Amino acid sequence: MIIRSEKTSDIKAIEEVTKAAFENHQFSQQTEHYIIRDLRVDDALVISLVAEVDGRVVGHIAFSPVTISDGTTDWHCLGPVSVLPEFQGRKIGTTLVNNGIDLLKTMDSKGCALVGLPTFYYRFGFENHPQLIHEGVPQELFVAKSLFGQMPSGTVEFHDAFKQLSEIEIDAITDVIVDFDPNGMMVDFANPGIESLIEKDALIERSDGKFTIRPLALGKYNTYFGRLTQHMITEMNRGHKNPILTAIKYGVLE
Ligand SMILES: CC(C)(COP(=O)(O)OP(=O)(O)OC[C@H]1O[C@@H](n2cnc3c(N)ncnc32)[C@H](O)[C@@H]1OP(=O)(O)O)[C@@H](O)C(=O)NCCC(=O)NCCS
Repeated sequence: MIIRSEKTSDIKAIEEVTKAAFENHQFSQQTEHYIIRDLRVDDALVISLVAEVDGRVVGHIAFSPVTISDGTTDWHCLGPVSVLPEFQGRKIGTTLVNNGIDLLKTMDSKGCALVGLPTFYYRFGFENHPQLIHEGVPQELFVAKSLFGQMPSGTVEFHDAFKQLSEIEIDAITDVIVDFDPNGMMVDFANPGIESLIEKDALIERSDGKFTIRPLALGKYNTYFGRLTQHMITEMNRGHKNPILTAIKYGVLE
């Protein structure tokens, strides 16, 4: 097995490995490959390693910068990490994590955090730290490992690429995105149409007839819609049911 940094020619294979690894994952919304794609587009994929067996990419791990509310800098997020189902259980995942952390150290990273199953990550020294939180995630699933200096204390925010919203119904998209133009005025449903958002890759139609919104892509297409969608995702995570009302309440829709 070879572990090496990704090349442009690996991008498709990384997507396939990630999709396959998370296909039947209990907590996955199958948006992990979009996270990697959006991190890459935003130059936030600071480490992207592939595991290659017989010339084939069978595993992948991503690392990206995070922000922490206490001002600590140079911390990173580990993930997503994926190994093709038929190659799991051969220590490929372990090697990807260890190599990734070694690389982080050479980049003077001070630490690493992630949302994941602690049973897998304990072995690498990741632990839950009550003073370090990630909003909207059960505390026991949020683990961290300090590489240098003290364990920070505060709220950790991952890159916006992690805020993917999947399984949205077409009506909700219509409500939130298509009804409003950048100046807050009502526009007709065809402008900007759902088709054009799909064309721009901001909206991805899934095989089950639902959609995944990629807020970063949306933000590049139209900053207002991007902002609104980010807000909507945050609010939905907090359990609010009506994103339009909350958007108005919080002043996103002026
Ligand atoms: C998690 C994953 C990357 C591990 O890769 P892998 O190559 O199969 O793992 P390894 O062979 O290095 O396994 C190392 C150990 O982790 C354990 N392990 C593997 N997957 C695990 C999981 N999902 N939960 C808990 N433990 C797990 C293995 O049993 C093994 O334990 P052992 O050393 O006591 O025998 C891989 O199983 C995968 O792609 N899973 C689907 C995607 C995923 O869950 N990603 C992580 C999100 S948190």
